[in-house]
Amino acid sequence: MKAHIAVLPGDGIGPEVMAEGMRCLRALAERHGHTFTLTELPFGGAAIDLTGNPLPDETLRACLAADAVLLGAIGGPKWSAPQAKVRPEQGLLGLRRALGVYANLRPVRVHPALLGASTLKPEILKGVDLMFVRELTGGIYFGDKRREAGSATDVCTYTVAEIERIVRSAARLAQQRRHKLVSIDKANVLETSRLWREVTTRLMREEFPDVTLEHMLVDSAAMHLIRRPRDFDVLVTENMFGDILTDEASMLAGSLGLLPSASLGEGRRGLYEPIHGSAPDIAGRGIANPYGTLLSVALLLRHSLTLAAEADALEKAVSEAIIAGALTPDLAGAGQAVTTQEAGDAVLKRL
Ligand code: IPM
Ligand code: MG
Repeated sequence: MKAHIAVLPGDGIGPEVMAEGMRCLRALAERHGHTFTLTELPFGGAAIDLTGNPLPDETLRACLAADAVLLGAIGGPKWSAPQAKVRPEQGLLGLRRALGVYANLRPVRVHPALLGASTLKPEILKGVDLMFVRELTGGIYFGDKRREAGSATDVCTYTVAEIERIVRSAARLAQQRRHKLVSIDKANVLETSRLWREVTTRLMREEFPDVTLEHMLVDSAAMHLIRRPRDFDVLVTENMFGDILTDEASMLAGSLGLLPSASLGEGRRGLYEPIHGSAPDIAGRGIANPYGTLLSVALLLRHSLTLAAEADALEKAVSEAIIAGALTPDLAGAGQAVTTQEAGDAVLKRL
């Protein structure tokens, strides 16, 4: 098949992990007879330096015209002064909005070979396999923001339609998995959460009677997530709760560097990115974990290009590289750590 992929390496470790992502895409194209056109574009802080805009028009146009967008990471101290007028993060939010990718899927699986890598006890982690569905284009991230002399305001708004479509996405995933959905809110305090709960209850009763629905308050969910993570199947929540809880959930897998994500809208086009940030503290040293990016490439192959066999092959190769001990310092512990590129080599060799 022929596919156009917009590649946004971004800032910090973004370009380092993206180099491995592109190597894998090229290798898969060659081995399976596909033509992937990869177009690298400026984005985030790198684009601010170049053009003054974190999401230049040319980048946005190319993303809208592509079959899929693959993103590394953005941000860094250089662009994050409290007074800064433009920020890399505005580019990311603008891109998510412009692509209409309201459903952010963040799967969390615990690899048997990494049971010891987490700070949590192995017996709690064994068999964990859950899927976070985070609402990505609404809520407090996108509401009015105001700063006055002695105060600041961030508005959080959700519409019925926004809640319905994200809950539908999550419920459909639950139907393909273990038929359990936990909806996370703060309905004891927030009006948006009370609407969320009401809409979710009705929609699940009317459209998904085969999926068990449980409501959970976000503080309680944060606790249960590390107390009994195996009990969760699909979790759906609003934008900011999802941001916070998925960083927490990454510790089940052992490292933030392992987690991929897919952001999807109505069509096949999607935005794929590891959930980690630009990690300025380790940028430029060639030690970032590329597996979150490679697993994001697998999600891209599966969801946007419908290349399930290639996606499976890549996930299997990453899993085997992990078993073989090709681990970057975030996972290697006191053992022998490999570099970003060596981790990429280990995967390529097994593809
Ligand atoms: C994420 C990140 C972003 C977010 C930042 C970089 C704006 O933390 O994708 O989880 O908050 O959505
Ligand atoms: Mg985050």
